[in-house]
Amino acid sequence: SLPDSMEKPKVLITRNDVPQIAIRKLRELCDVDIYEGSYPMPRDQLLARVAGKDGLFCFLTDRINAEVLDAAGRSLRVVSTMSVGYDHLSLEEMKSRDIKVGYTPDVLTDATAELTLALLLATSRRLLQANAELNNGGWGRCVWGPVWMLGKGLSGSTVGIFGLGRTGQAVLKRLAGFNVAKFLYTSTTKKELRAKFNKDAFAAMKNSAVFINTSRGGLVDQEALVWALQTGQIWAAGLDVMTPEPLPTDHILTTLPNCTLLPHIGSSEEGTRVAMAELAADNLLGGLLEDKEMPQRLC
Ligand code: DGY
Repeated sequence: SLPDSMEKPKVLITRNDVPQIAIRKLRELCDVDIYEGSYPMPRDQLLARVAGKDGLFCFLTDRINAEVLDAAGRSLRVVSTMSVGYDHLSLEEMKSRDIKVGYTPDVLTDATAELTLALLLATSRRLLQANAELNNGGWGRCVWGPVWMLGKGLSGSTVGIFGLGRTGQAVLKRLAGFNVAKFLYTSTTKKELRAKFNKDAFAAMKNSAVFINTSRGGLVDQEALVWALQTGQIWAAGLDVMTPEPLPTDHILTTLPNCTLLPHIGSSEEGTRVAMAELAADNLLGGLLEDKEMPQRLC
């Protein structure tokens, strides 16, 4: 608890649909301002309400750059994002202003790996297409077909993992029981992760390839992916992340039968989101209060 003489740090939370434990923790020790409107917080409101705050609790839906830091002013000491990804944060700006940054690695690794596996299986065995056939009468017309709804199996296949970091390793571990013949992987050095899945990359894949992305849409040249899917250069893709997010409902990707799309739900698992929220709150408190540590400090 804070000594009576000490003023509570002022923090802004940019959305209110956060697991309550995080809000309760912050309210105990901080003066909390929570944005209650529709999401994401409109830019003008963010710029107005961040002014004079000591801490910011944000999400991957908020772009926190020099404009926001300028609007916050010199009081801002800590930015805590409830995400492991940080491409929405201008880290260099934060470093140059001595602002501490917290994020939420590890606690979402299992959930993201599970979702990756689910998307891989759903895409390669065409689960969403098959479900649609059940609902649209396609099953009734075919009854059961020897070559109907054929998918691709994992057994005997080669699986490539781009970036063998936390999630990559967790996926690899889970695939151990699927009789995969060969694993290929890259390391997670920044240089490699900046590379893109462009036309050349897709052109180098087999026509039987199934491409899964649960990382960030920015790793993929999406036009090249559409080309690869439309021409049969690759067999199918399953994406939990894309550009832009949310994807417009009339986007060409939504029309491709060999593309399975999910709305960025990799970490969307009950316990995981509670753990992420709690960790983000602890990071904020750790950065703001002298007697506490930030459990997961990014910089
Ligand atoms: C993250 O945390 O960066 C994921 O993309 C969403 O949970």
